[in-house]
Amino acid sequence: MKRLFTLVVILLMSEYVNANDGYKLWLQYFPFENKAVADYYRDYLENIHIVGISPTHEVIKNELGIAIKGFLGKDYQALTGKSVESALCIISKTDELPQEIKTAFAPNTVGLKDDGYLLKYHQGKMYIISNTNIGLLYGTFSFLKSIQTRAQLETMDILENPQIQRRLLNHWDNLNRTVERGYAGFSIWNWHRLPHHIDQQYIDYARANASIGINGTSITNVNANALVLTPEYLEKAAALADAFRPYGIKIYLTARFNAPMVLDNLPTADPLDPGVQKWWKDKTAEIYSYIPDFGGFLVKADSEGQPGPHNYGRTQADGANILADAVQPFGGIVMWRAFVYNEKTPTDRIKQAYDEFKPLDGEFRENVIIQVKNGPLDFQPREPFHPLFGAMPKTPIMMEFQITKEYLGQETHWVNLASMWEEVLQSDTYAKGKGSTVSKVIDGSLHGYKLTGMAGVANIGTDRNWTGHHTGQADWYAYGKLAWNPDTKIDKIAEDWLKMTFSTDPDFVGTIKGVMLKSHEILVNYMTPIGLHHIMARSHHWGPGPWVTGGSRDDWTATYYHKASKDSIGFDRTVTGSNALGQYAPEWKQILGDPDKISLDYLLWFHRVPWNKKLKTGNTLWHEMAIRYQKGVEGARWMQKKWEIQEGKIDTERFDHIRSFLNIQVREAEWWRDSCLLYFQQFSQMPLPEGVEKPKYDLNYYLNFKRNFVPGI
Ligand code: GCU
Repeated sequence: MKRLFTLVVILLMSEYVNANDGYKLWLQYFPFENKAVADYYRDYLENIHIVGISPTHEVIKNELGIAIKGFLGKDYQALTGKSVESALCIISKTDELPQEIKTAFAPNTVGLKDDGYLLKYHQGKMYIISNTNIGLLYGTFSFLKSIQTRAQLETMDILENPQIQRRLLNHWDNLNRTVERGYAGFSIWNWHRLPHHIDQQYIDYARANASIGINGTSITNVNANALVLTPEYLEKAAALADAFRPYGIKIYLTARFNAPMVLDNLPTADPLDPGVQKWWKDKTAEIYSYIPDFGGFLVKADSEGQPGPHNYGRTQADGANILADAVQPFGGIVMWRAFVYNEKTPTDRIKQAYDEFKPLDGEFRENVIIQVKNGPLDFQPREPFHPLFGAMPKTPIMMEFQITKEYLGQETHWVNLASMWEEVLQSDTYAKGKGSTVSKVIDGSLHGYKLTGMAGVANIGTDRNWTGHHTGQADWYAYGKLAWNPDTKIDKIAEDWLKMTFSTDPDFVGTIKGVMLKSHEILVNYMTPIGLHHIMARSHHWGPGPWVTGGSRDDWTATYYHKASKDSIGFDRTVTGSNALGQYAPEWKQILGDPDKISLDYLLWFHRVPWNKKLKTGNTLWHEMAIRYQKGVEGARWMQKKWEIQEGKIDTERFDHIRSFLNIQVREAEWWRDSCLLYFQQFSQMPLPEGVEKPKYDLNYYLNFKRNFVPGI
């Protein structure tokens, strides 16, 4: 028997060891590594009782089937006939439970909220309990994760409630299937084949999202095409909504503000015009006739060429409210983006959103939520938190993270974005004294928001592994976990993801978790150390471009941000400069306003600093900058070394893929270091300190380095 089991495991493992294209993401459900482990979990996988009938129950059974096949190599048997005596019971709270269990569980089940679930071991059996079908699905995924991560079941007593209501992916996908800032192929939405062909990838997308608690998806680019609001596309969007519904995922659409003019030739899109208001009401009713549980609109207005209320002398609140009134009778919401800035506004670009939105606090309808990027500029490798967090107590604010790595080397660089997100989420806004973290703003607890949300700009495309880099999957995974609970510990997220995706081998998990947790700092060092920002190449933002200057918009150049001169470098954002610092709490003003107190991580973001100024490390600014660039390169090489020694511990296909991407990452880290140091050296006029490698080429080489057709624009 033991031999037979070993043989089966070897056969199953051989596929796992040699070839794995990553399509299964973290839902790999690898075969158990030995009989003892299999025996430990077997009963809970073979002896299951599921109460209830619904499309979501079918999804639960299907997922258990996939998992059982993976873990045990067995086909899933009809499970519904089994009784509450079964080892695993998946039951709604209201279902009949023996009185004794009801009593034992009472304290927990009282705490169940929304789509929360209870995963509890009791007298030899596991129970998954929720008030909703979707909660049962979340509980099932959580239970399967426990097995994937080899958790001990006897101590299991997990009560999980989502801390944020709307947990969305934002796809910047165009109707022609290109993806703005997408680096993993084309859009997964095959509009041409919709509505009649539902691709398996849509279902697997829904499974993956449900497994991490994502419950909404905005499927079109924020630089919106009004066509998506026409019957031709609504029919297609409705087909996706139908496919996603059993997984608890709602569809949202991006609304182009001048759609009434584009689609129906209205003379204006003025939000205070009754004809325009009627148009949006009628259009919304039409959308709901296709998609009865349509989530609502996501809007980018008055920004980067998008039309908006400014065109009619109206406020952002006027604009948002017209759409809010239209979706309100149907229970829909409006996610109105705060990414509003204009090159004609003479103030520092990073101040503009706060200046515009803060005075409107309390002016928005109850079903509007303001969607704010994590930092005040634009998804840089490191930014301070956006000052709007904590500044609008009467208006719900949601977080927008970018999962796709537009400014972070794009798909070939390995950087654990959760580290960056945690930094922002745990920042203290001091809005209501110490402990007023960004996470408490967006989970609604700080200001009592009735509406809460988080959005992540998707990194998904048609690449077989979904995200280009296999480790981009970790960012998608971590995003879901943080959207569920923004205070989740990121080292646990990384550890679980590694075990579910690659291997439970403790050496592998320990070492690679270490790599993941250091990767963000490493990338910041080789790209934008000491608070440098927006020094990427023009337009596509791939690779270094500190020399980018001129052109139609100053606020799209690098020199606008670093302002390097012979004496100094950096953007003075203190009272002597743009005073963007004035938008933060007094506690921050004291720390960030003092060039000797501020963390070096933000120095050049807020201060203009002479090249020869001695920093708290004892180095001059130039010296510190140079050694940080060098450290970044060394960090990338260290990641590469740590990866090399994992050979044989995971399948060769993914091992080799990551290996070759690390090779690119190291080369590009060197490119960043060499070109930035040569460029800035023209100003500092100081030699490279000892220990910093001599650049491979001269500055001219880097200035003239051009690549055509960089993806994602
Ligand atoms: C960045 C990005 C754009 C995108 C914009 C946005 O500026 O480069 O491609 O449209 O953000 O968030 O709207």
